[in-house]
Amino acid sequence: MDHNEAFISAVHSATLERFETTHKAPSNIALVKYWGKYDSQIPANASISFTLSEAHTTSRILFEKAAKSEVHVFYEGESKPEFEPKIVQFLERIRLYCPFLSTYKITIDTANTFPHSSGIASSASGMAALAMGIVALEQKLGGIAKEAMLQKASFLGRLGSGSAARSIEGPVVSWGEHAELENSSDLYATKFERPHELFKTYQDSILIVHKGTKKVSSTLGHDLMKNHPFKEARFEQAQSHISSLVAAMKKGNLEAFIKIVESEALSLHAMMMTSNPYFVLMEPQTLEVIQKVWDYRAQTKTPLCFTLDAGANVHLLYPEAHKKEVHSFIENQLKQHCEDGFYIHDRCGEGAV
Ligand code: PMV
Repeated sequence: MDHNEAFISAVHSATLERFETTHKAPSNIALVKYWGKYDSQIPANASISFTLSEAHTTSRILFEKAAKSEVHVFYEGESKPEFEPKIVQFLERIRLYCPFLSTYKITIDTANTFPHSSGIASSASGMAALAMGIVALEQKLGGIAKEAMLQKASFLGRLGSGSAARSIEGPVVSWGEHAELENSSDLYATKFERPHELFKTYQDSILIVHKGTKKVSSTLGHDLMKNHPFKEARFEQAQSHISSLVAAMKKGNLEAFIKIVESEALSLHAMMMTSNPYFVLMEPQTLEVIQKVWDYRAQTKTPLCFTLDAGANVHLLYPEAHKKEVHSFIENQLKQHCEDGFYIHDRCGEGAV
């Protein structure tokens, strides 16, 4: 049996007239990056991430029985028709797996804890919250057992935005098949079962170096990997980084953790700089921050490292025990590189609720 088939709901039409549900789903930050995919959102390599906590989306979803499916999207109570095409496309993609949706009018009212266009991507948390709401409806209709809900939400979230698959559970999650990741799958994310205690409360301070939406969408970025001259080497590097990171995260080996995480961030951006067309998403301030982090680590021996998403902002990762000193380092030396002095202190979290 095709593994996808297990996710096809047997519920086609439903008698339930109205169902309202609210879910909160966090953003996540990849340690080993997903950059490059095959059709139907199958990743070219496995990825591992920290599920965040403070940066999250809350979505209230109202399903009302209707002759034909319809979608309305609100952001903090305000109608946002411009968000609708992406949601409609997502619903189209998951129709096979959730046929009951075509008999509902769906109204989504969503809000993020982080400012809109602060440079923090909301697609992972937004799609994860929506997927949770849809699975909650499926459960209400008797179409899915409670134990299977999180996996299906991750499966659906993936079809909306690959990294959304990793925003359902926490604190450490992987997505994509890999021999050293138990029960790993290309179709959904799984919880990394035995991280060292250190990683259950890891901190992530997000420095907003540049506000505003991304110059290059991740859809285009993934696409450019298809003919990238270094793609084979990159996918192999990521798979090998997973092996080393799994070992480091089980043992609590921070030195190894830091080397892999920083290398991954720079490899991601190196792929962007060497694609055709090439592009650069880092800003001068991104490099200033990186240099300061390296100097600080060399001087103080604090296990502080950075990672980057597909943008200019810098995520600073460190164990909870070093929170106080890192917060003063940020306030005294890094805040000046943030747009309007803006940053967010976040930490690992348990996933969607
Ligand atoms: O989920 P997408 O399609 O927006 O891609 C996410 C890509 C990165 O954020 C750059 C890396 C990752 O693994 O999250």
